[in-house]
Amino acid sequence: MRASENSKTQQPSGKTGDNDKTCFIKTYGCQMNVYDSQRMEEALSEAGYRPVAAADEADMVILNPCHIREKAAEKVYSELGRLKPLKQQNKHMVIGVAGCVAQAEGAEIIARAPVVDMVFGPQTFQQLPAMLGEIADARAQGNKPKLVRTEFPASEKFAALQAAPRKPVTRSPSAFVTVQEGCDKFCTFCVVPYTRGEEVSRARADIIAEARALVAQGVCEITLLGQNVNAWAHDGMRLDGLLAQLGEIEGLERLRFTTSHPRDMDAALIAAHGDNEKLMPYLHLPVQSGSDAILKAMNRKHTAADYLALVKKFRAARPDLALSSDFIVGFPGETEEDFAATMALVEEVRYAQAFSFKYSPRPGTPAADAENQVDEAVKAARLKDLQALLNAQQMAFHQAQIGKTLPVLFDKLSKSGDQMSGRSPYLQPVHVPLGDVDAAALRGRILPVEIEAAHANSLSGILSI
Ligand code: SAH
Ligand code: SF4
Ligand code: F3S
Repeated sequence: MRASENSKTQQPSGKTGDNDKTCFIKTYGCQMNVYDSQRMEEALSEAGYRPVAAADEADMVILNPCHIREKAAEKVYSELGRLKPLKQQNKHMVIGVAGCVAQAEGAEIIARAPVVDMVFGPQTFQQLPAMLGEIADARAQGNKPKLVRTEFPASEKFAALQAAPRKPVTRSPSAFVTVQEGCDKFCTFCVVPYTRGEEVSRARADIIAEARALVAQGVCEITLLGQNVNAWAHDGMRLDGLLAQLGEIEGLERLRFTTSHPRDMDAALIAAHGDNEKLMPYLHLPVQSGSDAILKAMNRKHTAADYLALVKKFRAARPDLALSSDFIVGFPGETEEDFAATMALVEEVRYAQAFSFKYSPRPGTPAADAENQVDEAVKAARLKDLQALLNAQQMAFHQAQIGKTLPVLFDKLSKSGDQMSGRSPYLQPVHVPLGDVDAAALRGRILPVEIEAAHANSLSGILSI
């Protein structure tokens, strides 16, 4: 996933004065944050802002950070520390903090880092041009305004997204489309229900319109996003129906969706993995733990057996499905037996890839107050063991691709300029040497590649055309 995005700017309220304003957006966290940053960039472009590659060239800097774990959330303050001298040099500079950290910490951010001028949550970024106008007007009168906008109108956000159809700023043949916001699950470790609010589904027609607009710009792969994307529902339709309708769009070759909750999986969506030809054979289905006691304490509302039964159904529908998951080790009260149950579940599923984390207590979540917190050294040792197993499984999955010919959607030229990379149906990056093939002839096309070698995080091969 791209870790940062750039943006641009112009005079916010159309006033006279310097008319070349620039902007830089730095993104952390999940794909939903990346999507939000892209939409902010579009809103700012509309308002005339020009994107630049670094904060020191920008009049407007937006940090769009993640609150999921302590380390992620703290990054924003070190970044703000680096911005302080830049703001001292450029008195026009506006600094904004967006996203889940903004939602969780609100005005506290300004109290802790007075360099910040505005704080706005994930549901309010459509107000960005108006906020910039307010800041410019107040500064013109000699004031130093501080704006905090952290209301929760998710449906308003979706309405604004629709009111502003997407401009062609796509840099990739693969695009994200947010279809669902928020979470009602309240896993006891997680901040998302507090930072993103309750579950809201975006209207079907809006999603289809956005997908069509993206395809018209050359996009041929769309990943539908939502914290619980498989909870998407609109006018009696569920995600399988939406995927079927999207599959009918000519030129849209690949569909993906993330992230799913095991509880919201239904038979029709499982069947779609066998029936919908555009739906890629890859599923991110977080389980978090293999211990029923821990799953209960996490409020996941499913057991390890429920999860394994789901995996079995998916594999019956799509035998070559690549599975991915998230894991937390060292959740309060996790014993050696609980951890062994997680390792046993991993052994049984055989993942193609996975993300794993040490439990990080988050203020305001129930598990943070539990007394039986696990020692950091124990967490670290368990994470090491789990990651060794997951890495071995990932490598085995990669090795099993050697000798196969996989369709690869080509996207990026390597830094050295002699290799092109893309993604396999199973989402692995695949590198091919360009030889005398022109990079432009490959970009955005899905072409067969014979896989020759497996690496820890990617595959490599040769074009078989
Ligand atoms: N909505 C998705 C993912 C949400 S956050 C889901 O339910 O699967 C992404 C991942 O971060 C989670 O799946 C979890 O593994 C991890 N995570 C969330 N809160 C955490 C915490 N307090 N400490 C460590 N990892 C956490
Ligand atoms: Fe967080 Fe659980 Fe909701 Fe996922 S389902 S976002 S882990 S509360
Ligand atoms: Fe992070 Fe918010 Fe996404 S907390 S993981 S950016 S929903």
